[in-house]
Amino acid sequence: MKLFVDSADLHELRALADTGLVDGVTTNRSLIAKQGGVFLDTLAAICAAVEGPVSAEVASTAYAGMMAEGERLAAIAANVVVKLPLTWDGLKATQSFAGRGIRTNVTLCFTAVQALMAAKAGATFISPFVGRIDDHGGRGMELIADIRAIYDQYGFPTEILAASIRTETHVKDAALAGADCATLPPKLFQGLLTHPLTERGLRQFLDDWSGSGQTIL
Ligand code: E4P
Repeated sequence: MKLFVDSADLHELRALADTGLVDGVTTNRSLIAKQGGVFLDTLAAICAAVEGPVSAEVASTAYAGMMAEGERLAAIAANVVVKLPLTWDGLKATQSFAGRGIRTNVTLCFTAVQALMAAKAGATFISPFVGRIDDHGGRGMELIADIRAIYDQYGFPTEILAASIRTETHVKDAALAGADCATLPPKLFQGLLTHPLTERGLRQFLDDWSGSGQTIL
């Protein structure tokens, strides 16, 4: 499963990209607004810092505006993926971008039928919002499993990008449910290796080794 970082914070993204295990980045309008600065400049810097796909969301809600904005975003770097909302205009734009060879991430997906429609429109990625479904008493991970079954049944190449991921358990469950990718807040990504027994074991091994008086080099 590919792991993306859900952030527009260049400093955090660069630090995580340094691990060599970041496969891409997702941003949304809220993250960009929180970050401040000039959106297009920030996007260009993120695209240069990370090799994988970088999702950048349009601001328009009407087809013509989405097309104009998406083309502008896609011209910034080869790894830009145009992020579009799951609306009729958004799916129309998805089809048009697919015809032009421009990759898309269809966002704000909350049902399997929405995901089916996005795949039919030729979306490169579909973003089901697991955490927000859980927040409203639903079972976000069931949606991932349902979309996996539908896409496999019909051979849709659209990649399932589990979004609104909040916990390590979400990451594990998304992997078990067959998500192609998951996008994580930087803090969650950074903490993926943390376990008290790993830390305790490492401390003990280091203590024992230094007590032995030996060196490797
Ligand atoms: C993904 O593309 C979204 O930006 C993100 O995962 C939304 O997460 P949230 O529900 O925690 O805001």
